[in-house]
Amino acid sequence: MTAKPPKNINIVPFVSVDNMMKLVLGVGVETFLRELADYIEADFRRWDLFDKTPRIASHSAEGVIELMPTSDGEVYGFKYVNGHPKNFREGLQTVTGFGVLSRVDNGYPVLLSEMTILTALRTAATSALAAKYLAPRGAGCMAIIGNGAQSEFQAMAFKALLGITKLRLYDIDPAAIEKCVRNLAGKGFEIVRCDSAETAVEGAQIITTVTADKQYATILTDNMVGSGIHINAVGGDCPGKTELHKDILLRSDIFVEYPPQTRVEGEIQQLPGDHPVTELWTVIAGEAVGRRDAGQTTLFDSVGFAIEDFSALRYVRDKVASTTFFDRLDMIADPNDPRDLFGMVLRADKAA
Ligand SMILES: NC(=O)c1ccc[n+]([C@@H]2O[C@H](COP(=O)([O-])OP(=O)(O)OC[C@H]3O[C@@H](n4cnc5c(N)ncnc54)[C@H](O)[C@@H]3O)[C@@H](O)[C@H]2O)c1
Repeated sequence: MTAKPPKNINIVPFVSVDNMMKLVLGVGVETFLRELADYIEADFRRWDLFDKTPRIASHSAEGVIELMPTSDGEVYGFKYVNGHPKNFREGLQTVTGFGVLSRVDNGYPVLLSEMTILTALRTAATSALAAKYLAPRGAGCMAIIGNGAQSEFQAMAFKALLGITKLRLYDIDPAAIEKCVRNLAGKGFEIVRCDSAETAVEGAQIITTVTADKQYATILTDNMVGSGIHINAVGGDCPGKTELHKDILLRSDIFVEYPPQTRVEGEIQQLPGDHPVTELWTVIAGEAVGRRDAGQTTLFDSVGFAIEDFSALRYVRDKVASTTFFDRLDMIADPNDPRDLFGMVLRADKAA
């Protein structure tokens, strides 16, 4: 006999933008980032279990729309996400997203969630998690180049996971720097506004690049990066969209999420396809060495991988369960007699 399906299996919990904001503030931004990083770390430790594929990208002249699926054999997840650097000039987000988790055993969704805010949180949590293994010991100061939508999340994650409290900010648009300073006021940071990327990196042990430009850009040149620095390169995440001069890559130890995706989308698209890189999960699982010594230049060539979104959805599913921060969506047509889908449609007329 087959197991009886759970009651209300057709009703899917939905975390709206409003509820996501309430959840994040209810949990506390830093606690949320720390707990989310723990979920990502746990999933990176069981990397082998997951279905892995580079994300499916649909490119246009102005941006990209992507689907990012994965499964651990029990739960399946995917994220829809876009990247349109010109959007902010039109008053729109550069990156927006939403995602779904489903049961593998019957395919029924168990969560639908906004993922614009969640993507910023998971990207920042992944960056800080990587830095926990790669940044120089005792790092206290980070430069953030590009002070747009993602930037404060990066700052908060590096504070929550690494205790970074000194920030040096630079953006080509001074209004973005001011917005970032305003949003981070009272959050325990000492902030210096900088008028160039060169000035921003002075004295920083960690450099985060998180700009948006749909072209090969050179946010950092080789002479700007001293030895021993950790670079967290977040903004280069599409074919033809990079932030670092190739010479930096050639003298850095490079850590990536999933090589088949990063070789197409990351900074390393500038290098031959067989250039050595280390998969971040192998460092987290203790199978590879992260930072070896104080003089080493480390680079996390972040592009964003499906498993991080899966971890984020898993975290949100667990976290909202005991709260009221979700709606119940009548999302799955599920007639009492599974073969009577048409009859269910006809009966709706009588019910109306
Ligand atoms: N790696 C990942 O997992 C991941 C996840 C999310 C977003 N991203 C990428 O991160 C980047 C930033 O995203 P966002 O949502 O913050 O974008 P955004 O448009 O809100 O902000 C980008 C900022 O970069 C600034 N900028 C552009 N060129 C610059 C330059 N040469 N020097 C200094 N500043 C410059 C802009 O003025 C803007 O303030 C995007 O490229 C996005 O695709 C990556």
